[in-house]
Amino acid sequence: MLVAVAGGTGLVGAKVVERLRARGDDVVILARSAGVDLTTGAGLADALEGVDVVIDTTSIVAKKPAEYVAFFRAVAEHLQQAGAAAGARRIVTLSIVGIDGLGGGPFAHYDGKRAQEAATEAGSVPTSILRATQFHGFAGQLIDWVAKGGVLPCPKQPVQTVDVDAVADQLVAMAHEETTEQHVRRDLAGPEKSLLADRARAIAKARGQRLWVAPVWLPGATAKKIRSGVLQAPAGAVIDGGTFEVWLAREYPVS
Ligand SMILES: NC(=O)c1ccc[n+]([C@@H]2O[C@H](COP(=O)([O-])OP(=O)(O)OC[C@H]3O[C@@H](n4cnc5c(N)ncnc54)[C@H](OP(=O)(O)O)[C@@H]3O)[C@@H](O)[C@H]2O)c1
Repeated sequence: MLVAVAGGTGLVGAKVVERLRARGDDVVILARSAGVDLTTGAGLADALEGVDVVIDTTSIVAKKPAEYVAFFRAVAEHLQQAGAAAGARRIVTLSIVGIDGLGGGPFAHYDGKRAQEAATEAGSVPTSILRATQFHGFAGQLIDWVAKGGVLPCPKQPVQTVDVDAVADQLVAMAHEETTEQHVRRDLAGPEKSLLADRARAIAKARGQRLWVAPVWLPGATAKKIRSGVLQAPAGAVIDGGTFEVWLAREYPVS
């Protein structure tokens, strides 16, 4: 099977590529560093020649909130149009658990993901959307993006983080699934409920990083919904992957 992995050089994408190759699939990577710009569609038609399935694991860290919707919608529309022209049988897209009704300001990434889901399902190529919870390493990304002067302002945020390896496994399984359904949707979460602040403290400690995790109370409807636990596994979610502690020991081995 020939699988195109959009974002195949990224954190999730590289793990997806590794797994596809290990099971004998042919892979083409769609990324700017591989000569394909998915926001303009440049290089896409040639790259998708003969493709069976497309897996979308693209992402950006935007400077302005509005960029998220523009990016994710454009990528999804280009993959649908070029995928249909190439005769792809399915597009598998990675999204995020619980994002309905969330967005704006610091949560604009979620607006982008909903726009991506909608644009993906609006096309003619059948789709499978995997909504995963935050990865075990998400609090580490947050530290890198937000912490200043040894302080991380951290909202009270219940999470149920998942090992990124389980996310890659599930995306590959969905790409290989035989189904006649036009739109498949699945939720994936890790095995334990926790608080984002506790994850941040554990990652900072494992990194040997001095960090004070300062509790913050964010106003607004999105923050309120997140405090109620909507980012944790919904009913019917697949629970998979190792625990946070196992991931932490693997990621930051004690020398
Ligand atoms: N972090 C979490 O906790 C979490 C949880 C659930 C779901 N997710 C979702 O997981 C997805 C993947 O995240 P990640 O951390 O693996 O992303 P990442 O490491 O930042 O990788 C992003 C990928 O997108 C590619 N890309 C960016 N702009 C592009 C463009 N214009 N054209 C083509 N390719 C482009 C990048 O390659 P080039 O730079 O070479 O173009 C790279 O391969 C995201 O959509 C995110 O919403 C994340």
